[in-house]
Amino acid sequence: MSKEDAWWRDAVIYQIYPRSFRDANGDGEGDLAGIIEGLPYVASLGVDAIWLSPIYRSPNNDGFYDVADPRDIDPLFGTLADAELLIKEAHECGLKVIFDIIPNHFSSAHVWFQAALAAEASSPERARFHFYDGKGENGELPPNNWNSLFTGSAWSRTDDGQYYLHLFDSSQPDLNWDNPEVHADFEKTLHFWLGRGIDGFRIDVSHGLVKENILVDHRDPDLLTKALRIDTKDVTAEQRAELLSDMPFFDRDGVHEIYRAWRKIFNGYKNRMTVGEAFVYPTSRLAHYVRPDELHQIFNFDFLLIEWNAEKIRESASRVISELSTVGAPPTWALNNHDSPRLVSRLGSVKKARALALLTAALPGSLYIYQGEELGLPDGDMPLSARRDPIALRSQGADLGRDGCRVPLPWDEHAENFGFTSGSPWLPQMAGYGDYAIASEVRDPESSLNFYKRTLKIRHDHPALGGEGSITFLDTKPGILGFTRVPGLIVFANTTDEQALIPIEAQSLLHQSGDGVSFAADLLTLPAHTTVWLQR
Ligand code: NOJ
Repeated sequence: MSKEDAWWRDAVIYQIYPRSFRDANGDGEGDLAGIIEGLPYVASLGVDAIWLSPIYRSPNNDGFYDVADPRDIDPLFGTLADAELLIKEAHECGLKVIFDIIPNHFSSAHVWFQAALAAEASSPERARFHFYDGKGENGELPPNNWNSLFTGSAWSRTDDGQYYLHLFDSSQPDLNWDNPEVHADFEKTLHFWLGRGIDGFRIDVSHGLVKENILVDHRDPDLLTKALRIDTKDVTAEQRAELLSDMPFFDRDGVHEIYRAWRKIFNGYKNRMTVGEAFVYPTSRLAHYVRPDELHQIFNFDFLLIEWNAEKIRESASRVISELSTVGAPPTWALNNHDSPRLVSRLGSVKKARALALLTAALPGSLYIYQGEELGLPDGDMPLSARRDPIALRSQGADLGRDGCRVPLPWDEHAENFGFTSGSPWLPQMAGYGDYAIASEVRDPESSLNFYKRTLKIRHDHPALGGEGSITFLDTKPGILGFTRVPGLIVFANTTDEQALIPIEAQSLLHQSGDGVSFAADLLTLPAHTTVWLQR
């Protein structure tokens, strides 16, 4: 495989959350024309590709992850012609383009689901979803006791008394992948977009398509729901391992047949890639998704939650790298995304966030950056009445959901709504976000933005960085992480509150996440919460 064929193996991929990126038409919601306007900015970061969260026609009950027509663009974002223009312009800026695809469910507004509602029990229309009669004397109980990941039952009842399954919102009915029509429709969608020149797909809930034992109650659905929250503190590691390694609706072996068929489609085009979203346990099961005849990449979500702790980082990184190497797949790294807290807020410190970002960028494989991460944006906060995430709405605020990390990007500290929109933004803009505006960070040599740009430039140019070359972890004192990459790169991170003195023969300082790093007589002085890249 040539470097161009395998561009994705060590690519830096910038995630755009289209609603919150840039609004060109003043309706308060980001759009494709806004993304096109912002492409020079994204290209200036030194990334290889953009991944767009969904832009398809949707009633937008779950941030467009409720798709009513996967082969058309939602009018809020623009038109099919705008999407084609975006693909072309991105390519002209040297950026590959990855779209989301959402095969676990459709929106209840999709014509198939509307037809299913109008049809009878046991009809072919209903067989595209999971429709069942209820239990109990009058069918008044759902067919099983599974919970929705968004709170409440995973079943909703239709007017004629049957229930349908939805692992997410009630407006996101799960598709029945035992039905060949479902396969055929998704294959059509893949060709539709690949034929329009996109370079890959991010596959939503890629581990969820196949369900088993649908009519059997789970032994402890509430505990399972807790175990499924990636940031759960309510279950022990042992409980989690036990619950997640044997559950009926995620990570079933049958799902791999689907990706084997998809890979054949991808292989029919040039240089295309897929990245699956999957929360599986144990993480060694991630490797199943990236066997040579399945997907190209799989998200590793460990780092979305990783503590700023050298031992934990080392354990996680070395485990993930070695698990994926068993199938020859490159690892992926993501420190935040549209579903999880922003890095700076999670670690509670800009210093730690930069230090973690710098060490992550030195790991082998592919790096994902979520829009605004490069600005050091913290999470936003807003009252329940302003929240839009179905998690917040379904739980009536018991869980505030994901709107905090979806607040629109600040472009210009002097403009109305910091340049995101001339209208009224769909989520309230945060007063403090002016300090993080792109225009102001561009001017400040010490800004997070310029730190990310320097990092990506060195990662791109240095022969030891990016790539998949080997990594060797060093024996270090507690709280210090050290590793080398060939040729000639040494990385140290100090996750403690104290300055560290590290004996090391190195020639020069390539890059550092904070001030105060120095060398003298082969002794490195590494301040607290700082990462350094050294040249041997
Ligand atoms: C994962 C997506 O990232 C998330 O935003 C969405 O709510 C669920 N899948 C359901 O599609």
